Amino acid sequence: MNLLKLVLFFALSLFFINCSSDKEETATDKEESATPSFTSLYNNVFGTTNCASCHQPGGQAFDTDGVELDFSTQANAYNTLTSKNVTGATSIGTCNGVAIVASAATNSYLAAVLYDDYATSSFGGVASCTPYSAHRQDANLSSLASQYKSTLIDWINAGAPNN
Ligand code: HEC
Repeated sequence: MNLLKLVLFFALSLFFINCSSDKEETATDKEESATPSFTSLYNNVFGTTNCASCHQPGGQAFDTDGVELDFSTQANAYNTLTSKNVTGATSIGTCNGVAIVASAATNSYLAAVLYDDYATSSFGGVASCTPYSAHRQDANLSSLASQYKSTLIDWINAGAPNN
């Protein structure tokens, strides 16, 4: 009888040790998937035909509207997103000098063209800069953008790492 209790005790201990180590693994997994990654944004958003069809040499936004974002490769996407100011034909003159990706999402034109709650008037402190709204009005683009909203906003606010 005593032996049976002992065996039961060990079995239960093993069971609880297992449970608690499972929990730790889950917590670590969550932290990792919450890290905003440019590679994941490029693969799921910028590099897909949803964005890159217009934003690359030969694309409508690049050639017709003078937007310098080039999403044809991940390196070009990173460089143009993080180094360019607004150059779009309908924005130039009014939004000139506003960064596409600034140090915070609230000053980043990228967030303003994709999300209503970031599209404020006199954007980035530039008088009469009204962010282009066609992306937010396009059902496909806005549903894709809202799916990746927290990753994109967190990525900008984390200093736009090339990760
Ligand atoms: C149907 C073509 C088209 C698609 C698809 C498209 N864009 Fe655009 N985008 C444009 C045009 C045209 C402009 C320029 C508007 C203007 O003249 O100010 C623009 C402007 C921008 C700007 C501001 C750049 C600047 O210098 O004015 C950003 C940022 C941007 N797009 C990001 C995206 C992202 C991210 C996606 C995918 C979710 C996307 N676009 C999909 C056509 C497109």
